[in-house]
Amino acid sequence: MLDHTRQRDLFRILLALLYFCRQMPGTCAAVPLQLDPPSIVVPFGSPVSVNCSTNVTNKGMGWEASQGQKDLMENVTFITWTVKSLEHWDIEPICYINVNEQYMLSLNITVYKPPDQVSISTVGHTGPMIEGRQYELQCAVQNVAPVHLLTVNWYKGQHLVKGENFSDMNKFPVNKTLTLQISPHRGDDGAQYRCEAELQLGPEGPQPPPLVKSDPLNITVHCKFVFPY
Ligand SMILES: *[C@@H]1O[C@H](CO)[C@@H](O)[C@H](O)[C@H]1NC(C)=O
Ligand SMILES: *[C@@H]1O[C@H](CO)[C@@H](O)[C@H](O)[C@H]1NC(C)=O
Ligand SMILES: *[C@@H]1O[C@H](CO)[C@@H](O)[C@H](O)[C@H]1NC(C)=O
Ligand SMILES: *[C@@H]1O[C@H](CO)[C@@H](O)[C@H](O)[C@H]1NC(C)=O
Ligand SMILES: *[C@@H]1O[C@H](CO)[C@@H](O)[C@H](O)[C@H]1NC(C)=O
Ligand SMILES: *[C@@H]1O[C@H](CO)[C@@H](O)[C@H](O)[C@H]1NC(C)=O
Ligand SMILES: *[C@@H]1O[C@H](CO)[C@@H](O)[C@H](O)[C@H]1NC(C)=O
Repeated sequence: MLDHTRQRDLFRILLALLYFCRQMPGTCAAVPLQLDPPSIVVPFGSPVSVNCSTNVTNKGMGWEASQGQKDLMENVTFITWTVKSLEHWDIEPICYINVNEQYMLSLNITVYKPPDQVSISTVGHTGPMIEGRQYELQCAVQNVAPVHLLTVNWYKGQHLVKGENFSDMNKFPVNKTLTLQISPHRGDDGAQYRCEAELQLGPEGPQPPPLVKSDPLNITVHCKFVFPY
């Protein structure tokens, strides 16, 4: 017989393991469920279908989801979650099975939307720039999700000037405004700046990944010393 302390320790380990299994879908053989595909990347408004299957005799299976929920079904070994048009940004579908206790497995789902528009402009300034002074360029990315997978790159001609990522875990579409400080010299006269917004959706996402470019912004640079005639 285990003594009291060791029993308690064992119980704690089991609890931790159970928690780990529920947090990390697909890593624990103890959950007698399999999702096919286990992970999906879908554009907002598109159809989705995922199978959940089991090899154990059970008292019922179902899908819990804010869209396309499948109530408990008896005497089945697989159950399919289907929606015609996925319209919940924050959906978290979970397949469950009742054996003697309930097991569950969550689907790894990413709902995305490429930006409606990406535009570049100069802030608080119009006309030619003066060499050596500081100016601010602005890039506006409209209506994109999820922002944590967004990369915005600034280009001057073909040269990558700056890249930016976001840590915001918001799943809903957002607008983002980014700025770039420039201090042009006379060689920059006629230079073209642009920004590009790319969603880094990984190998399960569309290939190539969605990319939206701004129109180019031409800058005109005048020399520092303008002599009066
Ligand atoms: C789900 O299972 C059904 C029936 O076995 C099959 O026709 C379908 O292709 C499967 N779907 C996926 C996404 O695996
Ligand atoms: C069920 O059994 C088949 C064949 O042995 C195996 O490929 C599959 O992974 C099993 N599914 C689950 C959920 O254990
Ligand atoms: C499931 O199978 C059992 C045993 O075969 C049967 O008694 C029961 O009526 C079935 N349930 C449904 C909902 O078909
Ligand atoms: C979910 O899928 C993404 C890729 O689509 C992957 O980067 C991530 O690690 C997966 N998360 C889990 C918990 O499996
Ligand atoms: C942004 O993320 C992408 C993909 O994850 C990575 O390749 C890139 O280096 C990151 N850029 C910055 C500036 O962190
Ligand atoms: C983003 O900007 C557009 C246009 O200005 C506006 O219609 C929309 O409501 C904004 N979206 C968010 C999430 O703020
Ligand atoms: C920017 O420069 C390019 C090439 O020099 C030219 O084709 C284009 O018309 C210019 N755009 C504007 C808005 O001036």
